[in-house]
Amino acid sequence: MQALQDKKILLGISGGIASYKSAILARRLIDAGAEVRVVMTTGAQAFITPLTFQALTGNPVHTELLDTAAEAAMGHIELARWADIIVIAPASANLIARLSHGFADDLLTTLVLASDAPLLLAPAMNRLMWSNAATQENTRTLIARGVTLLGPDEGAQACGETGAGRMLEPEDIRDLVVQFANNEMLSQVAIPVEADNHVPGTPSDTPANQQPTGVKTALRNSLAGLHIVITAGPTVEPIDPVRFITNRSSGKMGFALADAAHRKQAKVTLIAGPVTLETPTGVTRIDVDTAKAMHTAALKAVEGADVFISVAAVADYRVENVAEEKIKKNDDNMTLTLVRNPDILASISALPDRPFCVGFAAETQHVEKYARGKLKKKNLDIIAANQVGQSDNPVFGSDTNSLDVYWPADGHRRIASATKKQVAAELLDIIAERLANR
Ligand SMILES: Cc1cc2nc3c(=O)[nH]c(=O)nc-3n(C[C@H](O)[C@H](O)[C@H](O)COP(=O)(O)O)c2cc1C
Repeated sequence: MQALQDKKILLGISGGIASYKSAILARRLIDAGAEVRVVMTTGAQAFITPLTFQALTGNPVHTELLDTAAEAAMGHIELARWADIIVIAPASANLIARLSHGFADDLLTTLVLASDAPLLLAPAMNRLMWSNAATQENTRTLIARGVTLLGPDEGAQACGETGAGRMLEPEDIRDLVVQFANNEMLSQVAIPVEADNHVPGTPSDTPANQQPTGVKTALRNSLAGLHIVITAGPTVEPIDPVRFITNRSSGKMGFALADAAHRKQAKVTLIAGPVTLETPTGVTRIDVDTAKAMHTAALKAVEGADVFISVAAVADYRVENVAEEKIKKNDDNMTLTLVRNPDILASISALPDRPFCVGFAAETQHVEKYARGKLKKKNLDIIAANQVGQSDNPVFGSDTNSLDVYWPADGHRRIASATKKQVAAELLDIIAERLANR
């Protein structure tokens, strides 16, 4: 059976440059088994013609409200009743404003008011239009009424700027509609807009606890729109120009998490120690070597981030005095003085505006006791623990893993042994659930 078999989807299209992608979206929804009918605003028709959608869907495209012929064919009430789900992509700033105020001044807005079908909006607009206090307020109002947001994404925009406001790709929207249709939706999460999204002239001087909030969604199995920072791999601590201290971490678990988080529509920054792994598609990678360099990079990357996952095996100690020249072999013994490295996870979880913090604990014994101790001591939201040092579960360098995931007060879930890719996807599902419950 297809993922959207027998689902009746009313695809609304408003006037934005991203409306050209809606043709592909219509196609993807039909490919997934849905019956699709398209309603276009007057604005949308300036960007793409109804004929395109008529040809793609095999159904007439609806554009007029006050038209006797259109009303006699399939009237607005009939269309409103027909729909199982209403998806509007792109949802322009103007349409979001009209919907939030309950306007019924064209066919699409009237249909939304006249239908009790769930409404999914994929906003698409210039980054300043999106971060504008008016759009943010309108979007929050819609979410409070039960509307689900799909995106928006961040990145390069048609106007030449870069930032939040891009429409999600058609395939991503299709996947989220499938998840929604399968009742996998979790609650909406409101997250503070990033500082650089403030628009001159909007109320940016309000006290911190009254800052306008940007609106993003968390769906089960989806982390759409969230910024996740992940550290991975080992660190290396130099002794002299040719020697260093390191550990056995391969970076595979952290890279698998970065890949899985990107597939779940998160924006991902991966801070990697020296490993030979390829950067997962769509992930921003920052290469570092020492624990101090990772600490600096991580503190910068988590500014405005939603989730921090510390998977890296960070060296606890570094050599106090790194020799400038290669150390010569003179005596039978040599002594290195080691000093403590900064604790990256503890520094981030102590930030006043901290992201949701996830730690990893590799223990050789008393796994639950030590993991829960670290969870509490470092004030974490989740800790993922595994037992290391057993011959049947090498963990380091392996392509498989199993985890015991703990959270306060007594939360626990076991992720059974599977590929690191599968384990990563399961761990992210738990993170999405915990985030939504926070
Ligand atoms: C070239 C061009 C591109 C535009 N792109 C967008 C856009 O991406 N998002 C948006 O919200 N508005 C965009 N607009 C403005 C909308 O088209 C305008 O607000 C219109 O009234 C929207 O009407 P509708 O929401 O009823 O379809 C654009 C306008 C022009 C001229």
